[in-house]
Amino acid sequence: MNIIVTGGAGFIGSNFVFHMLKAHPDYRIICLDKLTYAGNLSTLEPVMDNPNFRFVKADICDKEAVDKLFAEEKPDIVVNFAAESHVDRSIENPQIFLETNIIGTSVLMDASRKYGVKRYHQVSTDEVYGDLPLDRPDLFFTENTPIHTSSPYSSSKAGADLLVLAYHRTYGLPVTLSRCSNNYGPYHFPEKLIPLMIIRALHDESLPVYGDGLNVRDWLYVEDHCKAIDLIIHNGKVGEVYNVGGHNEMANIDIVKLILKELGKSEDLITYVTDRAGHDRRYAIDPTKIHNDLGWLPETKFADGIVKTIKWYLDNESWWQPIISGEYQNYYEKMYGDK
Ligand code: NAD
Ligand code: DAU
Repeated sequence: MNIIVTGGAGFIGSNFVFHMLKAHPDYRIICLDKLTYAGNLSTLEPVMDNPNFRFVKADICDKEAVDKLFAEEKPDIVVNFAAESHVDRSIENPQIFLETNIIGTSVLMDASRKYGVKRYHQVSTDEVYGDLPLDRPDLFFTENTPIHTSSPYSSSKAGADLLVLAYHRTYGLPVTLSRCSNNYGPYHFPEKLIPLMIIRALHDESLPVYGDGLNVRDWLYVEDHCKAIDLIIHNGKVGEVYNVGGHNEMANIDIVKLILKELGKSEDLITYVTDRAGHDRRYAIDPTKIHNDLGWLPETKFADGIVKTIKWYLDNESWWQPIISGEYQNYYEKMYGDK
């Protein structure tokens, strides 16, 4: 089985590459990644010499490069993780989100049609459903919740989702889609809440909490997401959407306090800053469908996963230190300087 994994040098994609090489030692995994600021080749270093792994640096929007790779590899399955993924960056510069997340998806699907791919899987997000109110804890996102986006990021992901379903209906492309809640774990880029707070707390730097800190996210350990996608590409029904989440809703401020407690740091580091524009209030996934149809259940409890994650950042400074120097500093100043 040949599988092209796009965005495999990023957070979830790299965890998926590791999972697949371990879970299916007879599969060949080809990672296609542009290596944007969010992609790190050093992450894939442990598998670079694996004969069942190949890395190709390319842009999913580059039709020629994508066509060449599909012609060479004749993939059975394509799993598309490649995306611009950070909401705050999408508010600053929406254009690149439309290019990569929508146009890139269409380029991959055109190649999938041309080369007779047996399964095209689109990695989407719960953000396509918009948000839920804080005072209605009985409400959850199901696969039938209407698409109702808030940010340029989520709108670009929703645009891609619609295109994926249209390619299935119009051209018969055998697609599946997954919409997952917030992931956490190793190799999470330090612009996102959990790694940002761990690394800044380690340096005794202020921790910028947006708004009142009460926004709720539904956290899932990244390995559980990877296992869900593995199940969907093998046993999922073509044309279907699967929500992925583990009923683990937490307010941002509680996450930040938990990190401080684990690191033995003072809550005085917490600094409330200007809220994110259009900030979604609450995400909460109903994972009944993937549980009933495919038998998926999350395995890592948040209490264990967050401790494992903090330990990973403590043990792997050599991974994040080069990232937070240089360009990242400019980014931090630009995004948080006047907040
Ligand atoms: P990430 O930003 O950590 O990684 C994205 C990867 O895609 C990087 O390696 C980057 O180099 C690559 N990439 C970006 N543009 C590209 C292009 N034009 N061509 C080829 N490669 C390109 O993202 P992530 O957090 O790992 O998210 C992966 C996917 O999962 C995204 O599609 C995202 O929307 C989705 N998702 C993320 C989460 C989450 O909590 N992080 C939750 C649900 C869904
Ligand atoms: O729900 C899935 C989505 O989760 C994915 O589709 C996105 O790719 C991924 O980035 C993530 O989006 P969020 O916007 O939820 O993640 P982020 O880590 O940026 O923020 C989490 C929450 O923390 C959010 O309510 C904003 C808040 N926050 C974030 C940062 C970076 C802060 O309060 N301070 C911060 O500095």
